Amino acid sequence: MSDTDQTDLTTARAVRIEHFGGPEVIAVANIAVPELEPGEVLVRMAVASINPVDWKIAEGKYPPLGKDKLPIVLGRDLSGTVVAVGANGGDAAVGGRVCAFIDTDRGAQSTLAVLKPGEAVAVPQAVGLDVAGAVPLAAMTAWQGMFDHGGLAAGQSILIHGAAGGVGHIAVQLAKWKGARVVATASEKDLDFVRSLGADVVVDYKNERFEDVASDLDMVFDTQGGETQDRSLAVLRKGGILVSTLDPDERKAAEHGVRTVPRWHAQPDATALAQVIALIAAGSIVVTIAKRFPLEAVRDAQAYAQNEHPRGKVILTNGQA
Ligand SMILES: NC(=O)c1ccc[n+]([C@@H]2O[C@H](COP(=O)([O-])OP(=O)(O)OC[C@H]3O[C@@H](n4cnc5c(N)ncnc54)[C@H](OP(=O)(O)O)[C@@H]3O)[C@@H](O)[C@H]2O)c1
Repeated sequence: MSDTDQTDLTTARAVRIEHFGGPEVIAVANIAVPELEPGEVLVRMAVASINPVDWKIAEGKYPPLGKDKLPIVLGRDLSGTVVAVGANGGDAAVGGRVCAFIDTDRGAQSTLAVLKPGEAVAVPQAVGLDVAGAVPLAAMTAWQGMFDHGGLAAGQSILIHGAAGGVGHIAVQLAKWKGARVVATASEKDLDFVRSLGADVVVDYKNERFEDVASDLDMVFDTQGGETQDRSLAVLRKGGILVSTLDPDERKAAEHGVRTVPRWHAQPDATALAQVIALIAAGSIVVTIAKRFPLEAVRDAQAYAQNEHPRGKVILTNGQA
């Protein structure tokens, strides 16, 4: 069943978990749409993106969403069309095309989703709703990691791991836009793709050692953790900075004389997201969508994202996005 009754704004189909566990706990179910509070808007989802945090949440491995928060609707980012506006108006009018990175109190993988005041970002006609729904969390992770936490500046050098992934392929383009020199790691099949994003040096991480081509860097943007993160400390200059999307080892960083950022989670930031959407509209950032799945096929979408090494983003669609 899909969201066929376009007039019913009280019930949505949503990706929901009632218990923590493997893929078997992920189901698409009918949920009640809450009454809009003042300033909120209701969006008919066009696209919601798949992110690794989805299965971390489902497995109970995402600390901000513990057992007390069950049942949980998955999804942190979406695009769509505004279908209702709360009292006193909202960030957008009915019919407006919007995208958002939403807080953890709701889920984006829902045919109807409530946006809180300040969350909706207008999507110009030059940007497809598929791209606008694919990019918010990945882009805010790259933006906040490299710019807000890391302070990346023009003329600096950065090593970006996982450069063909959802976060990495946006990070490479944002770092180049900022004026940095980019060394990037990826699998052999993705090297040309990562070069096309603007990376100055591309390293096939399975067959080459990034330490052989990178040294004295200002920043490492780590999306891998573990051994990759440990080895990355040696390619930073003294006083350089490790920014990790996973757990940074602060003790090891200090031993190498480099700075790091304590564990952080990307946060909704509509102002920065609007800047990213403007960069996409201008053609400065190109978002790659590896594959699209209907919302009802969310388990297949997650399995694909986890196992098939996609380039860029995997998305869920609600109808024709
Ligand atoms: N802190 C936060 O707020 C935050 C936000 C977003 C994401 N994250 C985390 O950041 C990580 C990346 O997210 P994502 O959405 O970009 O995931 P993704 O789309 O799965 O991308 C990961 C990329 O890493 C590559 N890779 C795997 N092993 C590697 C290695 N040893 N060296 C270099 N690249 C390697 C993969 O390519 P191949 O396997 O094809 O080689 C893939 O392209 C996830 O763990 C996610 O949970 C954290």
